[in-house]
Amino acid sequence: MFTRQQIATRVAEIGAQISRDYAGETVVLVGVLKGACLFLSDLARNIALDATFDFIGVSSYGAGKQSSGEVKLTKDVDSPLQGKNVIIVEDILDTGVTMTYLTKVLQAAQPKSLKIAALLDKPSRRTMPIQADYFGFKIPDEFVIGYGMDFAERYRNLPDVCVLEPEKN
Ligand code: IMP
Ligand code: MG
Repeated sequence: MFTRQQIATRVAEIGAQISRDYAGETVVLVGVLKGACLFLSDLARNIALDATFDFIGVSSYGAGKQSSGEVKLTKDVDSPLQGKNVIIVEDILDTGVTMTYLTKVLQAAQPKSLKIAALLDKPSRRTMPIQADYFGFKIPDEFVIGYGMDFAERYRNLPDVCVLEPEKN
């Protein structure tokens, strides 16, 4: 769906936008494990600010493509976020259930500001009223893999974002 070159170009644009929006400030990039790892590492290198990283873990999807509909915190952030400019870095905004839950959890830590950066956005799937402040690409309702995103934990290491073909039988 998107080549590594297209991703790199877009991620550089988002990084430049964030650098302008937070000029003179520090930011904490909070990556959502594990899907956002590659996006965070590329995005961070395109942000010309005093930045730190943290990570948060959630489980919502089982081994397949369907969400269990229930979000569980599997790892909290390591450092206090009070008074910080926090940017949640996520691979894909789908139904919005995960991000709604995470914004609630992180808002409770009383950050100075809280924004969402998602590489991909599937707006047609949304069941919760939530939007990304920064996003790479809007995509149709297809299941994608690669560049951090998995199907049953595989394919995260593909350098391009690819569509997972439905099984033929
Ligand atoms: P949501 O709670 O429905 O918004 O789901 C968010 C999470 O589901 C994302 O962080 C992804 O980990 C996963 N997800 C949603 N769509 C896809 C996809 O097309 N490929 C891989 N993972 C996906
Ligand atoms: Mg994820």
